[in-house]
Amino acid sequence: MSFRLTYATMYNPPETMHERFELAMTQVESTLGARHPLFIDGADRDARQHAHRRSPIDTGLHLGDFALADPADVEAAMAAARAAFPAWRATPLAERARLVRRVGEIMEQRVYQIAAALTLEVGKNRMEALGEAQETVDFFRHYADDFESHAGYRHALPDDPIKGIASHNASVMLPYGVWVVIAPFNFPLALAGGPTAAALVTGNTVVVKGASDTPWAGRLLADCVRDAGLPAGVFNYLSGSGREIGEALVQHPLTAGITFTGSVPVGRHLMRQMASGAYPRPCIAEMGGKNPCIVTEHANLDHAAAGIVRSAYGMGGQKCSALSRLYVHESVADALIERLQAQLAAIRIGDPRRREYWLGPVVNAAAYDNYLRYVDALRGGGATLLGSEGRAGDPAFGHGHYVEPVLAEVPLAHPLWQQEMFLPILMLHRYGDRAEAMRLANDTPMGLTAGFYGGADEVSWFHEHIEAGVTYANRPQGATTGAWPGYQPFGGWKGSGSTGKAIASFYYLAQYLREQSRTVV
Ligand code: ALA
Repeated sequence: MSFRLTYATMYNPPETMHERFELAMTQVESTLGARHPLFIDGADRDARQHAHRRSPIDTGLHLGDFALADPADVEAAMAAARAAFPAWRATPLAERARLVRRVGEIMEQRVYQIAAALTLEVGKNRMEALGEAQETVDFFRHYADDFESHAGYRHALPDDPIKGIASHNASVMLPYGVWVVIAPFNFPLALAGGPTAAALVTGNTVVVKGASDTPWAGRLLADCVRDAGLPAGVFNYLSGSGREIGEALVQHPLTAGITFTGSVPVGRHLMRQMASGAYPRPCIAEMGGKNPCIVTEHANLDHAAAGIVRSAYGMGGQKCSALSRLYVHESVADALIERLQAQLAAIRIGDPRRREYWLGPVVNAAAYDNYLRYVDALRGGGATLLGSEGRAGDPAFGHGHYVEPVLAEVPLAHPLWQQEMFLPILMLHRYGDRAEAMRLANDTPMGLTAGFYGGADEVSWFHEHIEAGVTYANRPQGATTGAWPGYQPFGGWKGSGSTGKAIASFYYLAQYLREQSRTVV
């Protein structure tokens, strides 16, 4: 039986999905250890150096050798993208949209194999991996449909006759040129693929740089672009070090705009770089989160516990959307904690290739070390660990970077209330006054996602006061995570996003275009 993965199947997976994932995993495992080149000007390009990558699932598992681009490769990619721009920009919208959709179709044919690679490379469980792969497919469809439905944002405007001379007016939106996409490790396919689809359909050409921890996902995207038959140079893929080639890309005079997803300090640095040079250039930066959830005394606690656990611990908390701060009304705190503890006890930690393990490893040794430091800092700062001991590296979990999810009741003065950890650590505070809970929830320079569980008549209060770009109320499928293209536009306020326009929103594509007002007599 075949079926299409959708937003809904992610929450209710049929058995066939598991069978297909397991089959794909066997196929992909048989290809491990290969050498993966760059993709420039429509062809593979070997690099002088390669990174020998191991899986976070099992550090004995060699994923492959991935090209490390150098400055000459950056030059080649930028030159190819620039050379391809005039013809791509002049390609009729319907044809660009067809080719962009075609990339998504090809990716959909490979969605299980790509998901298996994401499990191996990032350590995601199968649902998270399939979710990311299918979400990326949907980005290609979504942006092609969206741009066509806006007819490329071309608008005829009224004539303005002055002294008998009529001017004919129009507004057109035009692509910028070479668009650089810098992808993060945690959604290495979706956050390379989504911005790529947006930049391509609007007529820009693209150079993608994959995260240094996850070069494979971007290479799989490059394979789909190649097989979709896009003209040479329209899309180029570089893997390598952020410090070296990321910086070279941003400083490159041909870089017309950037989409970056990653940390706040790097995002700010890129924004400064993009503001300098011959003239300022656009920088769409999607950055971190320190996402809160408020639970009032009127909440359905079963729904709250289910959504909180999924959002705080899914993918080991390594999502910018992950829940990290929980404010619970004191009258229901014990009852909620009891439910959270029961759910925590049921989480199985281990090799995410296997169906029974919901929580895989964190991405690398640095994240693992951070976990040890944060758990120490919580203990040292007077926190009470409620759900687990904060164990790490237990050989029973496997030979990768495995850590236990943590639920901790933490004094409000603790500095970790202000720091994004990107780990499965949820901090909890009991409040007495709802206004106080809201003040605490907003007391951060971030504003990405936020969750709420309470009475139906409290939801508008939540919306009115919360400072976050993506909000969820009373949702058992996730308190702060689980946005899907076409359903939940996804973008941050405050320090979490540079433009205030969300991914896959009605306003997203316009950011890849510049307006030309045309008045002709
Ligand atoms: N789409 C991902 C989520 O919402 C980032 O969690």
